[in-house]
Amino acid sequence: MTHRIATIPGDGIGVDVTAEAVKVVDAVLPGVAWTEFDWSCEQYLRTGAMMPADGIEQLAGFDAILLGAVGFPGVPDHISLWGLLIPVRRAFGQYVNLRPVRLLPGTTSALRDRNADDLDLLIVRENSEGEYSEIGGMHNKGRPGEFVLQESVFTRIGCERIIRYAFDQARQRRGRLCSATKSNGLIHSMPYWDSIVEQVAADYPEVALRQMHVDALAAEIVLHPDRLDVIVGSNLFGDILSDLAAAVTGGLGLAPSGNINPEGTAPSMFEAVHGSAPDIAGQGIANPVAQILAAAMMLEQLGESAAAAAVDRAVCEVLDGGAALTPDLGGTATTADLGSAIAARAEWAMAPR
Ligand code: NAI
Ligand code: MG
Repeated sequence: MTHRIATIPGDGIGVDVTAEAVKVVDAVLPGVAWTEFDWSCEQYLRTGAMMPADGIEQLAGFDAILLGAVGFPGVPDHISLWGLLIPVRRAFGQYVNLRPVRLLPGTTSALRDRNADDLDLLIVRENSEGEYSEIGGMHNKGRPGEFVLQESVFTRIGCERIIRYAFDQARQRRGRLCSATKSNGLIHSMPYWDSIVEQVAADYPEVALRQMHVDALAAEIVLHPDRLDVIVGSNLFGDILSDLAAAVTGGLGLAPSGNINPEGTAPSMFEAVHGSAPDIAGQGIANPVAQILAAAMMLEQLGESAAAAAVDRAVCEVLDGGAALTPDLGGTATTADLGSAIAARAEWAMAPR
């Protein structure tokens, strides 16, 4: 079956790393029908919109979306994010943001004395509501009493479906789930979240549940990652924890992410955790691994498990080999060098013998 995949390379290094991810997918699965959309901050400056008015309709017919990164100096971040990324996540019911975090071979981590078995986490982030809400506003603008309100939204349906998804993942993995809370500070939303966690837990007696305040959990990820398996958090907590987890495993250049519509009623969207990295954009030195691993998650979701596994193994082998590492990993290779090395290795793994 031919897969129809939309790519939105976006801004900065999003463009470079997406090219490498496409190269790797073509190496393991020839015949994918790609359609590229040039929606970006550049387009915003030209047209006044991050994507056309019918952008969501244009994307709706695809089997999956591979997104680079959006955001660039000159366009405020809230415009680029709310003009493209967040509408796609919400219109397509991608209420799960999945962020696997692993120690990959050949990379130097803040936890370098640990081995791959000690750090293998799956962060399940709520992706449709919570703290990232449009409700609020500025009042008394310009007067001495000026203030802003930013409301959080926690619905029963929204909390329950993400928490259930996380319990299902924990049951398929090592049977441990940790829920991020902050019920001592956020006295309405977080006790509600916690109560739903406890209700859903009753359906999963085989999963060991912990509930930790998000600040203590941040420390736990660094100090005792081996005690953790699946982590579930609200939109804001999941966002921050996954950058932290990515950083301790060797940097943002390695961390993939999937915006999943679990029911399959609309396309899911895959992207790296990192952004457009304006500080290194245009230099050809961005690490493409995060985007390539995001493409592997996409292949898995499309039912192409063998191709996904080949990409995953190729990433590990090339990193372990150490011959084609980008500067963030201590090497001198370019984005294209590392992408090509992974593509060649993955293609070899898939070749009939
Ligand atoms: P960033 O992730 O782009 O960069 C943070 C730091 O990590 C920079 O020093 C960068 O050079 C480094 N880095 C990131 N990815 C790398 C890679 N693949 N290889 C090597 N080094 C890498 O985050 P920042 O600077 O906060 O945001 C830049 C822009 O990206 C902003 O406009 C922001 O809104 C946007 N952004 C977009 C996201 C998305 O599209 N999902 C996610 C995060 C940020
Ligand atoms: Mg983030």
